[in-house]
Amino acid sequence: MQKSKKLSFSSKGIFPYNLAFTLLIPIRNLFLSPKKLIERLSLQKGDRVLEVGCGPGYFSPSVAYVISEGTLVLADIQKQMLDIAKRRMKKKGICNIEYYLCNGKDFDFNDNEFDRIFLVTAFGEVENKTAYIHEFSRLLKPDGLISISELWGDPDKITSEQLKDLFESNGFKQDRKFGGNANYTLNFKKAL
Ligand SMILES: C[S@@+](CC[C@H](N)C(=O)[O-])C[C@H]1O[C@@H](n2cnc3c(N)ncnc32)[C@H](O)[C@@H]1O
Repeated sequence: MQKSKKLSFSSKGIFPYNLAFTLLIPIRNLFLSPKKLIERLSLQKGDRVLEVGCGPGYFSPSVAYVISEGTLVLADIQKQMLDIAKRRMKKKGICNIEYYLCNGKDFDFNDNEFDRIFLVTAFGEVENKTAYIHEFSRLLKPDGLISISELWGDPDKITSEQLKDLFESNGFKQDRKFGGNANYTLNFKKAL
């Protein structure tokens, strides 16, 4: 498990779990609401979905409800974040969720296991971005979608141009872009 490097949510690095409550404030919907994210993910009821850097799981319940016959795997590098997410999901009575502690390098899942992979304000914090992109390519089904959302105010935010370059030079092609420069979602598919 990696330690949170920063003391406040305005510093760069892994977001501190003791500030997780700030990620659960509904004013976030001004930047990206769970409803909007769901539209952008174009989910099917039976999908198997991986959320990387789930934090306390602000977006997770809405996704889990939509894939009522599928499974949402919540993954984070901080066990404390997963514990908070687990408590919240249990309280809401959501059962189609699995939890996974990341090691920052690779994922212990099978090839072609996921229909969707998504990250919200998390990819900028990932240290080994290229290694993660290779893993995402391995884990995604051939027709799967990976969706990255970056939001205003995140000190680790990367621009949509940087993101596009990174993914396109590592085996993906851009699918759709939503939003503007401040708050955006970029979807990619495998360049087969
Ligand atoms: C700013 S928080 C966002 C949490 C959540 N996605 C949200 O929007 O509310 C970023 C999360 O990414 C996680 N994270 C950072 N680096 C990671 C990595 N390499 N693998 C998995 N999770 C990571 C952090 O622990 C933190 O929970």
